[in-house]
Amino acid sequence: MANQLRLQRVSQELNLPPTVLTIFGSTGDLSLNQLLPTLVHMDNEGLLPKNFRLVCVGRREFDTKAFMAFFVKNSRAKLDSKTVANFAKRVIYFKGDIDEPNSFSELQHVIADHKIGKKHDCFSRLYYFATAPEYFAPIASILKHQGLLIGCGEHERTIRILVEKPFGTDLRSAQTLNKELLKFFTEKQIYRIDHYLGKETVQNLLVTRFANDFLEPIWNRDYIDHVELSVFEDVGVGNRLNFFDQTGTLKDLVQNHVVQMLALIAMEEPKDLTPESIRSEKLGVLNALKKFTAKTISGNVVRGQYKEYKDEVGKRTATETFVALKTFVDNKRWNGVPFYIKTGKRLGKKVTEISVHFKKQCNLFGTDRASNVLTLRIQPDESVQLQINNKVPGFGIRLHTGSLDFGYKTAFLTEIPSAYERLFLDFMQGDQRLFMSKEEIEAAWKFTDSLVNNWDNKNAPIQAYASGTTGPKQAEAMIAKDGRRWWTK
Ligand code: BG6
Repeated sequence: MANQLRLQRVSQELNLPPTVLTIFGSTGDLSLNQLLPTLVHMDNEGLLPKNFRLVCVGRREFDTKAFMAFFVKNSRAKLDSKTVANFAKRVIYFKGDIDEPNSFSELQHVIADHKIGKKHDCFSRLYYFATAPEYFAPIASILKHQGLLIGCGEHERTIRILVEKPFGTDLRSAQTLNKELLKFFTEKQIYRIDHYLGKETVQNLLVTRFANDFLEPIWNRDYIDHVELSVFEDVGVGNRLNFFDQTGTLKDLVQNHVVQMLALIAMEEPKDLTPESIRSEKLGVLNALKKFTAKTISGNVVRGQYKEYKDEVGKRTATETFVALKTFVDNKRWNGVPFYIKTGKRLGKKVTEISVHFKKQCNLFGTDRASNVLTLRIQPDESVQLQINNKVPGFGIRLHTGSLDFGYKTAFLTEIPSAYERLFLDFMQGDQRLFMSKEEIEAAWKFTDSLVNNWDNKNAPIQAYASGTTGPKQAEAMIAKDGRRWWTK
């Protein structure tokens, strides 16, 4: 509650302008389960602009009432019928087929004609691309050619698009998509989403790093032994088989969420909090990520697939549902410090955390003791923990390893706002800090491509693992040969 009050104040302070948000792909899984429930919640909490309309675009033959009924029936989110009914007053359904651009000829009138359009010449026109990725470029062209980018004199500033992931499937397709979008929009109008950046705990990485002064002098190769980033999921691929089988864990999770977190952990201090400064420091890390070659993949990368996967797909495919790898950030601060990444589906639990392992510097109590480890728990049970050694009370000296623990739940006594809520607010407000730049996306693809283009059956064969375990045993061997163990189990 306290948190919601704080957020409400923020939204009032922001004084969000009159806004028409149009979602393309509004009958898809993401819209039904994330986007619409988030907007319903924000509406209920007073976090949407006072003058707000949502235009939901879909291929199906619905009127607005039938669309809302379809949403309620098919969403897995917990929805309160009264709250949805209130929200429904702000929604308009529009039937349009991206394969038939002319079916959008009426959309500009729908957007401009309702109450907001009539009263406010300069309302924000926001477009959310939540369709399959092959439609992103066609939607941009439809927006241009159907007059949907025409507003008032100031409209340039208040027309924005938000593009869902995956943003391309490799460097070349990402570059092509960037080029297509930049034909119609400036970089400032394009919001490339990575929902991990909207998570409170991911935002906190910047604060942990740069608002706690004792860390900066030791945040480097002289004091840090290695860093581990783990994203475990308990679920399998579920009903996204088609998409997932063409994508795999590397492109689905590592290319975006994991490397973005790595960038925040490894970046230099930005000179200020502007999107330009933050993105440019993250980009520095992404560019410095050591690219793989066929030679360096061997022994440093493990691909896995959970055993039931081939039955779910109905055939044997070489799609990884698990990746473990060791990489380096090739710069002065991090030279020689391994960054271990481990992520996969059906790993028995859902947990995302980053652990920073410090080197042992003192000899007085020997080196056969636990090292200091700073664990940044992204989800669930959000927390920051520092492992330290203490003396066990009594005669002699025996060490006990315990942890200093900062838990979000006890510290803030409140529900943490969802990533999408935060990202919607920033999109409406025009703040690009938590979105990715063209250069960041392309740098992340360069790193990912170096794996995809070089891994094969010989240097990184797909290893089967049982569901509910922490992945193939080869991942244990990979880190063990460096004399280390996975922290997240
Ligand atoms: C998505 C991936 O981007 O992130 C999914 O496509 C994955 O495969 C999901 O399950 C994980 O997100 P979260 O917020 O549940 O950790």
